[in-house]
Amino acid sequence: MKILVLNGPNLNLLGEREPSIYGADTMKSINDEILEKARCLGYEAVFYQSNSEGGIIDRLHESRLDCGGVILNAGAYTHYSYAIRDAIAAIKIPVVEVHLSNVNNRDEFRKTSVIAPVCRGTIAGFGKLGYILALYALDNMLGGGDGQV
Ligand code: DQA
Repeated sequence: MKILVLNGPNLNLLGEREPSIYGADTMKSINDEILEKARCLGYEAVFYQSNSEGGIIDRLHESRLDCGGVILNAGAYTHYSYAIRDAIAAIKIPVVEVHLSNVNNRDEFRKTSVIAPVCRGTIAGFGKLGYILALYALDNMLGGGDGQV
């Protein structure tokens, strides 16, 4: 079963973008770690990054046909994209919201997530570990675990 790891705007610059907030790892090295962990759990992680809202929405739509679940870091779209929220609500597979930084102790606008109500859960503030935690959460939801997250 495939798990989609979907990253939104500016996350392609991980490693050089505000490393004190987002860490020194590149997206490629984070994705390699996710790929390996997913393999251990019996999943195939597939990756997509887009700086545009439409790209994220199109991949979410596609994921309902080829994936069991989605790990989504929607970047700044998290805070205002009703279109991405509607796309998540439109698909039946579980979506877990991830943020590298603790969005609750930063700017006021980052405290609002318009996608949180339609995601199965949110993980924020644990850096790249958040993606791995989301993988475990999805594994539980998809029947690989004991049903407890
Ligand atoms: C982010 C948090 C967002 O507020 C920000 O716009 C990002 C990254 C995170 O992973 O911490 O681009 O989603």
